[in-house]
Amino acid sequence: MSTLHEEITSRKTFAIISHPDAGKTTLTEKLLYFGGAIREAGSVKGKKNTKQATSDWMEIERQRGISVTSSVLEFDYNGHHINILDTPGHEDFSEDTYRTLTAADSATMLIDAAKGVEAQTEKLFKVCSMRGIPIFTFINKMDREVREPFEVMEEMENVLGIRSYPMNWPIGMGQNFFGIYDRHARKVELFNPDNPSDVEVRQISGPEDPLLDELVEPSFLSQFREEMELLDVAGDPYDEDKIFRGELTPVFFGSAVSNFGVQNFLEHFLYFAPSPVGRESDQGFVEPVQDLFSGFIFKIQANMNPKHRDRIAFMRITSGKYTQGMTVNHSRLNKTMRLAQPTQFLAQDRSIVEEAYAGDIIGLFDPGTFRIGDTLAGKGNFQFAEMPHFSPEQFAAVSVKDAMKHKSFEKGIQQLTEEGLMQLFQTYNRYPEQQIIGVVGGLQFEVLEHRLKNEYNSDIHLEHLPLTIARWVTGDEKELDTFRKKQRNLAIDRDNKLVALFENEFQMNMAKDKYPNLVFHENSFTG
Ligand code: G4P
Repeated sequence: MSTLHEEITSRKTFAIISHPDAGKTTLTEKLLYFGGAIREAGSVKGKKNTKQATSDWMEIERQRGISVTSSVLEFDYNGHHINILDTPGHEDFSEDTYRTLTAADSATMLIDAAKGVEAQTEKLFKVCSMRGIPIFTFINKMDREVREPFEVMEEMENVLGIRSYPMNWPIGMGQNFFGIYDRHARKVELFNPDNPSDVEVRQISGPEDPLLDELVEPSFLSQFREEMELLDVAGDPYDEDKIFRGELTPVFFGSAVSNFGVQNFLEHFLYFAPSPVGRESDQGFVEPVQDLFSGFIFKIQANMNPKHRDRIAFMRITSGKYTQGMTVNHSRLNKTMRLAQPTQFLAQDRSIVEEAYAGDIIGLFDPGTFRIGDTLAGKGNFQFAEMPHFSPEQFAAVSVKDAMKHKSFEKGIQQLTEEGLMQLFQTYNRYPEQQIIGVVGGLQFEVLEHRLKNEYNSDIHLEHLPLTIARWVTGDEKELDTFRKKQRNLAIDRDNKLVALFENEFQMNMAKDKYPNLVFHENSFTG
């Protein structure tokens, strides 16, 4: 029997961040394949045919035309227990995606080598970098004609501000992709386009090894050797501390669709990626390996089963061990409760969890008891650090059509905000007062309308506003005073924090120039 320490330290909980179409579903599927969680690589892929990608297990949501979830997948590999937090991409991108990242201990950034750093990746990267978690990079689609590796790395540095350390380096690309060279293990993995997953691995003494002359065409080989020399001379040195602090990203090249370079990545990743990391609470840092069970709710998902109007609260276990039916203290309500039948998320479907450890994610049935950020603990009454809100990108004034329905409308707005579907603001210094809804992706408006109508019997008016940025404002009291009086589009959030809403960057920069002693925070953590 393994000990608590072994169980917890064998866990790796991470999220894959990328822009739609970079290959996240494909990469996830290959990782599951290595873990034996699916039988055949390719068996769950195929958005365009009838087969459903495993990570898109919210078929129910899909049938209803909305997909609002981030799923969790877990599998075992070489003695590690791996939890992948799958963040939604595409049009259902939402604040949920950001919050899911707070449950991860590291992230894998997936980049399409032809497209480089794209918008959604940049946003998700910012959240990871704010938390200082290690970030690994997989540069995908090397089987295509793509951009030069140095160019992509330079873009990562310019756009994201992160330096990279290539763990392996591609030899050629596209039609002339010969494989990758693992700089640490000093081996080449040869790409066979006719049978890509049949990888031939050859140990070599280094880039100058004559064996390479037999394997690689001269022009590609000489380019590869030049690049390796340049990397050794001008590249960043290998620095594990920087990797752990998220200041240097180990970079891997490959082709997810061909299942090439994925295992190389996985093995290095498991070596570097942190085991469950503790979290800050109002009573000090909570270490993961200890008898005390604790966790926090980072996401609430409603209506996973349309037959039951239940909600599921996703909890990241922060410390200790969960056992079925255990009793915990709900800190915010200061109430003892029994955790009945939590579910866990396996590759194929959900099942009842009997035990789970720090690092794992479990789903709790929620009759309306949980809010985003709630802390549950085996004993004691402490609260994990508050979960930040991030700037929405679309805003609308909301009101109920039928004034008679006001009460249920207010209740709905309240509950859906607690669930994290959207952010709720109140106009400041403006009469009549208005409720403003902020969302990251436009689909959330549709979800809001749909759910208020179906669950709270309230038809609503949504008046879309020409605003795209929210900033939480603090700073010099006198200047704040003037700002409160003169600035347009001010609001307060649910915690009564002052928020400035702007139409665009230009308008925001004008305010910054005008009020140099104010700080415009990108998220609700205002220090
Ligand atoms: P996503 O979840 O990040 O949105 O991306 P997904 O895995 O669905 O991949 C997007 C497209 O990119 C898919 O093609 C997929 O096959 C392709 N792809 C993923 N990895 C690689 C790779 O390493 N090389 C190449 N050449 N293509 C890759 P599609 O045509 O949109 O879909 P499908 O019909 O192939 O499923």
